[in-house]
Amino acid sequence: MNEDEKILKLIGFPKIKAKLDQNESPFNVPEEILNQASETLKYINYYPTEKLYDEIRYLYSEYAKVDVEKVWVAPGVDLFFDEYFFHFKSKGFVASPRPTFFLFEKEAYHMGYEIIGIKLKEPEFKIEINSFLNHVKQADFCYIDNPNNPTGNLIIEREGFEEIAKLNKPVLLDEAYYEFCNNTFIDLIENYEYLGIIRTLSKVFCLAGARISILITGKEISKIMNKDILRFRLSTISLVLAKLALENRKYIHEVIQKLNYEREKMIYEINKLGLKAYKSYTNFILIYSEIDNLAERLKEKGILVKDVSFQMGKGYIRVSVGDEKTNEYFIKSLKELLES
Ligand SMILES: Cc1ncc(COP(=O)(O)O)c(C=O)c1O
Repeated sequence: MNEDEKILKLIGFPKIKAKLDQNESPFNVPEEILNQASETLKYINYYPTEKLYDEIRYLYSEYAKVDVEKVWVAPGVDLFFDEYFFHFKSKGFVASPRPTFFLFEKEAYHMGYEIIGIKLKEPEFKIEINSFLNHVKQADFCYIDNPNNPTGNLIIEREGFEEIAKLNKPVLLDEAYYEFCNNTFIDLIENYEYLGIIRTLSKVFCLAGARISILITGKEISKIMNKDILRFRLSTISLVLAKLALENRKYIHEVIQKLNYEREKMIYEINKLGLKAYKSYTNFILIYSEIDNLAERLKEKGILVKDVSFQMGKGYIRVSVGDEKTNEYFIKSLKELLES
């Protein structure tokens, strides 16, 4: 076993050729950041400091151009979901598009909620505002992932979104993939006190394993966030990685540019093969095909993708955009499956 294989074994990484199932970045953060961060392990016997937590809030506020008091950090968006489920529960209904981020759905059921969903219809996958407004009125709060997972599409326009925000109910807008499309409603945070916006360092910042998730909150939502609790959830090594990544954030531009370029190339190649690859504003692609058990058959070739038939119906998979070599292997494997 070589050194790299030993490390992969240590972290339990699957023995495969292509990991395209969780919308991770195929690129890592710059090496200097990794080296500097690993030096801090010398002090891992101490708890993380409040100062470090506040520095991340400050650095992200600078990046997102919002006030620092509005920025919160947690290890995983699911913890923010839980804050909402916990604080706003009255009738036990939450409104969201269908399909939506599967972890949100799981968490909703776990917290005793029923989802009042609105179906996103092909090929546009847009939210129909009037029906959704009715759903939101009946719900304790609403969640919208824009771009949406797993369709990859932008599902709501600013005008429609503001109609929802004006209801003065908590609205949780998930912009985890914002950097791939530059589409954001973050400026509305000043106008709507019940608005919350999710961001993450898991995608273009290439830090999925560090679990750094961000919530930006309007005035009323800020009141329910408790810094003393939130700050104790993150480890020093994760906070250090977040700090160095945000301080040296120039690298994300290259990540965005490469992945957007690779995504368009993949969409073109997949459609050329006669499968349907949908437009995407993210680092993943929704694909429809009539090949039976496509996800399973790709797995036999060492490629992991996400089977989303449980959300979309038979024939749909979601594939992350990898680096050039991995994507070429994916396309080559698809071709082989079609020819077999
Ligand atoms: C819509 C959406 N929100 C959030 C996340 C995950 O964010 P985090 O890694 O910060 O928990 C994902 C991950 O795939 C996602 O698709």
